[in-house]
Amino acid sequence: MTRIRKAVIPAAGLGTRFYPLTRAQPKEMLPLVDKPVIHYVVEEAVDSGLDEILIVVGAGKDAIINYFDNSVLDKQADNHLLDSFPEIYFVRQRQQLGLADSIRYAKKFVDDEPFVVLLGDTVYLSNDDLSVTEQMINVYNKKGSSVIALEQVPVEKVGNYGIAGGKADPEGIFRIDRLLEKPSPLEAPSNLGITGLYALEPEIFQFIERIKPGKNGELQLTDALSVMAAESQLFGFEINGQRFDIGNMEMWIQAFIKFVSMDRRYSKLFGEHQKEQ
Ligand code: G1P
Repeated sequence: MTRIRKAVIPAAGLGTRFYPLTRAQPKEMLPLVDKPVIHYVVEEAVDSGLDEILIVVGAGKDAIINYFDNSVLDKQADNHLLDSFPEIYFVRQRQQLGLADSIRYAKKFVDDEPFVVLLGDTVYLSNDDLSVTEQMINVYNKKGSSVIALEQVPVEKVGNYGIAGGKADPEGIFRIDRLLEKPSPLEAPSNLGITGLYALEPEIFQFIERIKPGKNGELQLTDALSVMAAESQLFGFEINGQRFDIGNMEMWIQAFIKFVSMDRRYSKLFGEHQKEQ
């Protein structure tokens, strides 16, 4: 089995839920303390052993490309922030046709190797010694087939996620039999939501070619994965950690507070602020 070493990071969405913040800046560049969200996403990939990275950007996302340039400020601040990052490749999605379409732009980069997809607006905090991405890669190595990361979501929120149906084996790994993108609570096969982290065999590209526009008229990765689940093999596992979807205002605020509270330099601000009240 090939070791997974490539990561694809789609960062092409419009950031509609963040308007007007996203009028002139990509949501992936929103800060979590002193670094933009995309920095944490690349760090998660690199810390999980993925050393070839492709970011798929869309219109108005040049700030993401600029961020990974060397800056004169790095020298002034004696900061080696990006030194551990490998070379990062970029490709631009021509038109906003959905997540599955943005993955299609990674076909040449991926070639015939398995790869990880990390959404450019989602960060993870693991409860484990392994990162959440490493937890997924372990399941991939065990099963030798595509794997997606899942988490339980409240029933009233299933309409915000891709939802998986299937059965768990004694180790808690799900054999997925179908997926529905943003179903109503009545249609939903479970409350297991797709977190936006995927370990995929390159056969995904064939399935993407076969799907039609789905939810919101977009080409949905969930629909391509659902065909994969029916005709090939797809596994799922529940992450041991916390996931923050920075495509959503409440979760960005929660993430910001969480990251500040974990940062020794600023965590005391909360205490002082509370005392003043
Ligand atoms: C995307 C996926 C969805 C997944 C979600 C996680 O939706 O299509 O299946 O559950 O990410 O955040 P989006 O949030 O981009 O609408």
